[in-house]
Amino acid sequence: MTEQAKPTDPTRIDGKKNSRRLLKQVKSRVAACVDKGVTPCLAVVLIGDNPASQVYVRSKERRAKKAGIATRDHRAPGATTEELLAVIKQLNEDPEVDGILVQLPLPSNIDSDAILLAIHPDKDVDGFHPYNLGRLMIGKHRFVACTPQGCMHLLEEQGQELSGKRALVVGRSTIVGKPVAHLLLQANTTVTIAHSRTKNLAEEVARADILVAAVGRPNFIKGEWIRPGALVIDVGINRLEDGTLTGDVEYEAARERAAAITPVPGGVGPMTIACLLNNVVIAAERRAGLRDD
Ligand code: GUN
Repeated sequence: MTEQAKPTDPTRIDGKKNSRRLLKQVKSRVAACVDKGVTPCLAVVLIGDNPASQVYVRSKERRAKKAGIATRDHRAPGATTEELLAVIKQLNEDPEVDGILVQLPLPSNIDSDAILLAIHPDKDVDGFHPYNLGRLMIGKHRFVACTPQGCMHLLEEQGQELSGKRALVVGRSTIVGKPVAHLLLQANTTVTIAHSRTKNLAEEVARADILVAAVGRPNFIKGEWIRPGALVIDVGINRLEDGTLTGDVEYEAARERAAAITPVPGGVGPMTIACLLNNVVIAAERRAGLRDD
């Protein structure tokens, strides 16, 4: 029997395909840096023994290597805040390190704010330093956090005019909700941020032409709330008791109404890593004199 090509689902926003496209660009920009004598290098710091963090870090390192980006591994399961600050200082001063990634969450004995503040803003490829968050807020960004950047890539790929649309972000974290709201504002959408105290979330969702869900609760946003024709970006990655992964939005029911929606897995997740490597190559291009921003 001949294998039939799977019909493509026009409502499915394919994060893997989009991330492959971005990674291809990253790879050729890495080659341009290498031509200038600069090998892009990402330092990856993993503290503690969070199994999910170990999986994410391995995946980031594997992807980096595939794109030609060197990695420096720093694993210190029982480190204190002071020891970790010393590692960050050494990486800040190392001219061959372009980007520093400290995988979150850090163990509870570590002062996470102090660690993120210690990373030099020019090496802050996660975009979590208050300086870079402030630059984003004033519309003059240098490093944008990876997941919000990935959400915007996927929205822009849909070929719809974003300007003037109503956007709803559900979730107000510093890592996703707040930065993606600023990016949507810069794209001239009218932005609402909803959170755990929002009243009548269903009504807010029903008004949104663009929905970004980043709450971290499985199937929290009901498919029947979605505005017909909306673009839906589901940032949630929730593991159910049976081990399967699911998003924050009821996918099957939402698909019936949305113009397009990201699946979980295979939506925003792959974009996050591609955007991280994009940030590393931006830092390396600056070091190689290939850009002056
Ligand atoms: N933990 C969950 N998401 C992220 C991320 O984007 N960057 C880092 N450093 N840690 C995370």
